[in-house]
Amino acid sequence: MVDVTTDPFESMLHENRHFPPSPEFVAQANASLELYAQAQGDRMAFWDEQAGRLHWDKRWTTTLDWSGAPFAKWFVDGRINVAVNCVDRHVADGFGDQVAIHFEGEPGDTRAITYQQLQDEVCQAANALAALGVVAGDRVAIYLPMIPEAVIAMLACARLGAPHSVVFGGFSAEALRSRIDDAAAKVVITADGGYRRGSAFPLKPAVDEAVAAAPTVEHVLVVRRTGGDVVWTDKDVWWHEAVGGASTTHDPEFFDSEHPLFILYTSGTTGKPKGILHTTGGYLTQAAYTHHMVFDHKPGADVYWCTADVGWITGHSYIVYGPLANRATQVMYEGTPDTPHKGRWWEIVEKYRVTILYTAPTAIRTFAKWGREFPGQFDLTSLRLLGSVGEPINPAAWMWYRSVIGGDNCPIVDTWWQTETGAIMISPLPGVTHTKPGSAMDPLPGISAKVVDDDGNQIERSEAGYLILDEPWPAMLRGIWGDDERYVEQYWSRWPQVYFAGDGAKYDREGHIWLLGRVDDVMNVSGHRISTAEVESALVSHAAVAEAAVVGANDDTTGQAIVAFVILRENADISPDTVENIRSHVGTEIGSIAKPKRVMVVKELPKTRSGKIMRRLLRDVAENRDLGDTSTLADPAVMALISSGLATATDTD
Ligand code: WT7
Repeated sequence: MVDVTTDPFESMLHENRHFPPSPEFVAQANASLELYAQAQGDRMAFWDEQAGRLHWDKRWTTTLDWSGAPFAKWFVDGRINVAVNCVDRHVADGFGDQVAIHFEGEPGDTRAITYQQLQDEVCQAANALAALGVVAGDRVAIYLPMIPEAVIAMLACARLGAPHSVVFGGFSAEALRSRIDDAAAKVVITADGGYRRGSAFPLKPAVDEAVAAAPTVEHVLVVRRTGGDVVWTDKDVWWHEAVGGASTTHDPEFFDSEHPLFILYTSGTTGKPKGILHTTGGYLTQAAYTHHMVFDHKPGADVYWCTADVGWITGHSYIVYGPLANRATQVMYEGTPDTPHKGRWWEIVEKYRVTILYTAPTAIRTFAKWGREFPGQFDLTSLRLLGSVGEPINPAAWMWYRSVIGGDNCPIVDTWWQTETGAIMISPLPGVTHTKPGSAMDPLPGISAKVVDDDGNQIERSEAGYLILDEPWPAMLRGIWGDDERYVEQYWSRWPQVYFAGDGAKYDREGHIWLLGRVDDVMNVSGHRISTAEVESALVSHAAVAEAAVVGANDDTTGQAIVAFVILRENADISPDTVENIRSHVGTEIGSIAKPKRVMVVKELPKTRSGKIMRRLLRDVAENRDLGDTSTLADPAVMALISSGLATATDTD
């Protein structure tokens, strides 16, 4: 059974509040109760109908081929172009003048990009990439701030059938290099820099460092965003020259439904990130279907805003592919929520009359801490639906979101999914579900998710177990780039033909699902997945560190916070500088999101007799709790040594 001794969600089982949708919302909702029955009745026919939301050059012959399980093929033999679906068809349908993206730069610069302009720029970028030698199948790495060129670059790659690998702009040169290398990317698209917290930050130096050690890269396409100085190499090409000078017409090629669309790296339980592979037809089908139903999206009427970064899966599926396939008008914001003031997001909501807002619990908890006076200064009455993603949302944050941001008037959709699932899997359906604060509620129509015990049997209500997916779904990952074995082992080996998500979950008394967090050595910091092994390997690569163990400790803003326990080498000095230096080293190796909040220097680490680190005990220390069962410790005295920790450094960023 899952360890629930420290389960902070115990109280959720007693959550009896229900929030039914208002009659007005129901009357106009995209979703209906019949969807569940329809999908239950004939799952394949249901997905065929969802695929019908898209424009196919050639219709598929078979909905699902699962004969090569766990390697799925969806909409077999269908031919489709993603960029045509996200851009060209809307222009062809007469919506060229509709705004696709309202861009808001952090310094206050803005750009409204219509579907016609988006089509022109995507075609130009596709032509420019083709001129640089990019052909279908080539990998392109994208390392950009939150600017429209990120969306344009992704769509241009999709248009050419060149799988992109977007690397979050907060990752380090080394993290970028290893991702470029693993995918053997031919071109990198980046910018001189971007704006964050009121000032310009550089991106290009990290690319220069990464590319110097990545021989597969032939060209680097550089967007000028900040105008800051850049070192120029013979591989570099300015975006405004190459793309700006290219033709705005480009004949799209249609690709097989299973053609690779993108690779996105995510942390697993080892030190090496996994390149999650997504393909074309099934992915776009489920991204479009879920965006339509879960967000109740009405093209031409709604103003949609997903606050994620395009560097994460949420940005891929719910900034780029789902919304644009559905002809959304959306807001894209470059910067941080408190620049230049703590009301910036709410000012943006008021300015663009945002109707649908999709964000993360960590942001909601931060706003709740800042206080209701900041949102209170702006008119938020345009909002009609709120979404949450990335980690479990505690009932208190849910209630605050509902009342302070939503004016008690917006359905909240708490959406569970993963980089691997590609699109939303478990969520309320707005206009249908009577939501409960803190619960992602039920699998969407067409999706089968269960909570099981160690033997893979579905558990009783009010018990904890493992979340699994026991039917293939269209947007499912098709593998780990270059590592089929790890794909099978990681996700499909625990129970036959069953996908293991890595999350603990419970059914409440009514049979609704509550997510309980990861059950593996993966941390969730501000909705971002970081593996303990990755941070540990960064720590031990520091000259002063002999051994390291990392745990995710509960944190009331970020969900979990990274706490590192390190044993220093004998000759290392133990000054606060050394410890701070170790923290920054993790930033250099992975990126600042992986910097431990606290580093504790210890003499020993608690291990079992077989040498396995007992993270549970370290979590007890990190969370200032009495120690749990220490009977399996090889050396019972070790915990006393740890508790008398010699030096710690705490994040003050
Ligand atoms: C992990 C996936 C999906 C986009 C963002 C994160 C956790 C995600 C929820 C939710 C409880 C959630 C899970 C999952 N998670 N959404 N609504 N309730 N937990 O994507 O980096 O692939 O991480 O995030 O633990 O396994 P990711």
